[in-house]
Amino acid sequence: MSEDWAEAALARALDCVAGRLGAPGYPHVTQGGRWTTSPDGFWTGGFWVGLCWAGYEEQGDERFRAAAEQALEPFLARASEAHNHDLGMMFCPSAVMGFRLTGEPRYREAALRAAHSMAAQFNEKGRFIPGWGFFGEEDWSGAVLVDTLMNLPLLLWAAAESGESRLREVALAHGKTSLSFHFRADGSTAHVYHFDPLTGAPIGAGTYQGKSPTSCWSRGQAWAIAGCAALARLGAGQPYFQAARRAAAYYLDHLPADGLPPWDFDATGPAEPKDSSAAAIAAYGLLLLGEQETALWGTGAACLRALAEAAQAPPGHEAVLAHATADLPHRIGVDESTIYGDYFFVRALRHLNKNTASQPASGPRARLARDDKRR
Ligand code: GLY
Repeated sequence: MSEDWAEAALARALDCVAGRLGAPGYPHVTQGGRWTTSPDGFWTGGFWVGLCWAGYEEQGDERFRAAAEQALEPFLARASEAHNHDLGMMFCPSAVMGFRLTGEPRYREAALRAAHSMAAQFNEKGRFIPGWGFFGEEDWSGAVLVDTLMNLPLLLWAAAESGESRLREVALAHGKTSLSFHFRADGSTAHVYHFDPLTGAPIGAGTYQGKSPTSCWSRGQAWAIAGCAALARLGAGQPYFQAARRAAAYYLDHLPADGLPPWDFDATGPAEPKDSSAAAIAAYGLLLLGEQETALWGTGAACLRALAEAAQAPPGHEAVLAHATADLPHRIGVDESTIYGDYFFVRALRHLNKNTASQPASGPRARLARDDKRR
């Protein structure tokens, strides 16, 4: 049996998704509560497709399926992109999910192709998949992002689906590099770590969307929690479970009482914008961890409930969650909505609703922060 607040939040979220079925473009971030869209899906189009699949699976409504298929069709060609570390986030919610729900072989083929395109970017000397190639006229081919952890599940899915062990080896080699260089002793993470792309030699920490190379960008931290938890669940091994736990402990120790992290954990002033998308991704990761460590199930549910109370968008807003910050240093989507925040909110709610019966109580008394050291 699931919980009333979570059922209500999910129904409200899917109503919101239903409200834009048939609208052109792929929603990305909002401006003044209205979606800005990309024509090709940028790195986020898969989340829109995933929300449509979620509506179809939850409600059996063919309008959601038609919208998912329509949005996925042109997206499939992007599986061949040669410089794109986000293929996992693009193709897991869209093509892998579509294949699971419909059995359509072209979705499977595209998802496998995307996995090969990701693996082909692997830098053998440095043992990493770079975040970007040339970007903003700079060479970023030695920049490795903590976000990429959330892309690796595509490689594990593809290895299991095709039997090609090389895809799994690449995922685990990149993962090992990321655990070694992004994670700090206190469980926080650096957004970027720079390597020499020719020799593979480590250079030092950096950032693109965070406050500084030494700060902890909250969404990066959330990608670390959920990415490592997802990899552990897919059998990547205990180091991923432990890394996700350490990242979660840091996140929970620094989470304010309202359950909404600031955009960067070093941006602690009262006027600093929040990032509800980080909260949604982290809550999903905590629920995944909670399948192994029961106390974290209640914590994940409490975080999700706090998020639903603090950040569901008001009527008239086109997205599900308000108070997300996409990229503060570049002034993109500050205190707005993101399609990935909405996707992970729905994904976490569905995970909670489906599995609550087999997990411990996750009601209002479940603690939000690890040891009540709330700030
Ligand atoms: N993966 C990019 C971001 O979270 O903005």
